[in-house]
Amino acid sequence: MRITIRQIQAMKQQGRRIPMLTAYDYTSARLIEAAGIHFILVGDSLGMVMLGYDSTLPVTLDAIIHHSRAVVRGTTKALIVADLPFMTYNVSPELALQNAGRLMQEGGVQAVKLEGGQYIAPTVQRLTECGIPVMGHLGLTPQAIHQLSGFRVQGRTAETAQHLLDDALALQAAGAFSVVLELVPTELARHISQRLTIPAIGIGAGAGCDGQVQVMHDLLGLYDDFVPKHAKQFATLGQTIRVAVAQYAEEVQKGEFPTAEQSFNMDETILDTLYGGSSQASS
Ligand code: KIV
Repeated sequence: MRITIRQIQAMKQQGRRIPMLTAYDYTSARLIEAAGIHFILVGDSLGMVMLGYDSTLPVTLDAIIHHSRAVVRGTTKALIVADLPFMTYNVSPELALQNAGRLMQEGGVQAVKLEGGQYIAPTVQRLTECGIPVMGHLGLTPQAIHQLSGFRVQGRTAETAQHLLDDALALQAAGAFSVVLELVPTELARHISQRLTIPAIGIGAGAGCDGQVQVMHDLLGLYDDFVPKHAKQFATLGQTIRVAVAQYAEEVQKGEFPTAEQSFNMDETILDTLYGGSSQASS
């Protein structure tokens, strides 16, 4: 049985901080769940870290469904949330409903996430009324990267801070079960978290949130040429992978890999028939 949205919400009531992490494939989902993460996001950040785009905008619903299925296959306990990609929910609540329905039916996820505040609240309400759990996403909303003119901290003025708080309350009133706060000043994120009864999950929003979410590649140190300020590398797997692959290449070039240990043998008498009676012919 997977963790439910009620259990996630109960963690906030019990004062237990909620760790969430992205995953995009079967193998990493297995590892992440085995490490004790039971709240997983199939983020549209996959467009950048898995597919090499420079933003999340090119990610399609089919791509998210494809990756969601893999993550679902790799887990048994985690609650899986998947992002609704750019323009799959903004056009109308009815289109959002159709697309969220596809993500749940075909992707197998238990909840969807979408970006936006008060203007998207009617869509959140439509989805939740139809039985689709929705996680909101406020602050730096990567699908609006061009409108926001880059990856910038949001809510630093009195006006924008108030707007963010109003957005969070509107999402909660519309039925969202949780909300992501991305790149929001610590003080404001703490205040919003305290005002909400639903869990606020921060990324670059300080320690006062009810939980934290990170992009797996940042946390594992798969990139060392760019480490976002909000991320901490808990490992340096990029370096580990490079060393391992370089050693493999060197051993192949020197004829040191494979050895007998990684090889398979056959009956010498069969080999003799192949080489006309002399197995020496093979050497
Ligand atoms: O797509 C994603 O990974 C996200 C997180 C940054 C919250 O939305």
